[in-house]
Amino acid sequence: MEGSEATCDFAEKLEKLFSGTFTSLGIITGLEVGLFDILSNFKEPKSYIEIAEKGGLKPRYVKELLGCMTSAGIVKIDPENEKYYLPENHRKFFDKSKSESCIVQYMELLPTLCTLREKVAKCYPLDGPKGVSPEQYKGYASHMSKVSAVYVNRQLLSYIDQVEGLTHMLESGVECLDLACGTGHTTVIMAERFLHSNFIGGDFMAEQLSVGRDIANSRNLTNVTLQQLNVENLPQEWTERFDFVLCHYAIHDLSNPENGLNEFRRVLKTSGIGLIADVNMHSKHSRNVDNHVASMEYGFSEVHCMPASLSFDDGWGLGAGWGVEYATQLIESCGFEVKMIESGKTVLYIVKKIAT
Ligand SMILES: C[S@@+](CC[C@H](N)C(=O)[O-])C[C@H]1O[C@@H](n2cnc3c(N)ncnc32)[C@H](O)[C@@H]1O
Repeated sequence: MEGSEATCDFAEKLEKLFSGTFTSLGIITGLEVGLFDILSNFKEPKSYIEIAEKGGLKPRYVKELLGCMTSAGIVKIDPENEKYYLPENHRKFFDKSKSESCIVQYMELLPTLCTLREKVAKCYPLDGPKGVSPEQYKGYASHMSKVSAVYVNRQLLSYIDQVEGLTHMLESGVECLDLACGTGHTTVIMAERFLHSNFIGGDFMAEQLSVGRDIANSRNLTNVTLQQLNVENLPQEWTERFDFVLCHYAIHDLSNPENGLNEFRRVLKTSGIGLIADVNMHSKHSRNVDNHVASMEYGFSEVHCMPASLSFDDGWGLGAGWGVEYATQLIESCGFEVKMIESGKTVLYIVKKIAT
């Protein structure tokens, strides 16, 4: 068939994928045993024996793992003396305070994803379960909070800066709502930056909210409340209450995104600004071919976002790959004017209510 590559090319592609999986697993082990911290603290390349000694680890294990890390180009080796080092521009990926991206934290999810995968596979047969309920994703949710902590710190305020007039509005002191806030990192980051504004963060997973509450308390923030709520059925008295409403990477997780968007619209003031952040990819599979970010997002979605949404009665299972074309269409159909800004792997939908 047209477009098929030669068999040997395809075999190589599969090998590379399989190899990447082992490299990712090796990275997880490296993180667990402190390999990257040890390497980051050395100023000069070191032998595997010196590296093992520093970490109180068995040299034979360290040598094998370094074999995997060097052949994959994660750790570098000096061929003159077989000494290992972690280049400066690789170190920041393993250091949460400097992290360039949250990819390493995502990798740490692999073991949890493998157990979840078994539950998801059971949903495929026609007579199998509809989906996997959010309560079954406990390990996933707590881990995602770690990812969120790294990622949100780095990105969220820059998104806000990209929305005309929003930083000024939040600095002046307004009422804000963070829908499906998960652990509430997004809510807390905003509350800390915009002390004159009040922030409510809401999610239906109570366990996650307690993470954000502890952070807010430890930072003595009095302008943030995290509460358990269903985005698709917000309190009646909230109609036209909020000047700013955020939904960060969560519309696609709702059981019925249309209900969620209608509620978003109801609680946003007519003069207010809404911000929806989601994955930057296309809606049609044919437009995502050879896009490794898209395959990663579909993979996550297949194991979490979609089956969690489908577990509800009439759940849509929209999935993380709903894509910019369909997202724009759906958001507009719920009575919003939409301006889209691409910001790397994220797309920002800046929304304003169309008066009815
Ligand atoms: C991918 S997480 C994003 C969390 C957060 N916005 C962030 O960026 O860190 C999606 C969140 O949507 C929440 N969620 C899904 N459906 C919901 C609903 N109907 N009501 C409230 N929260 C919901 C999940 O519990 C989860 O915390």
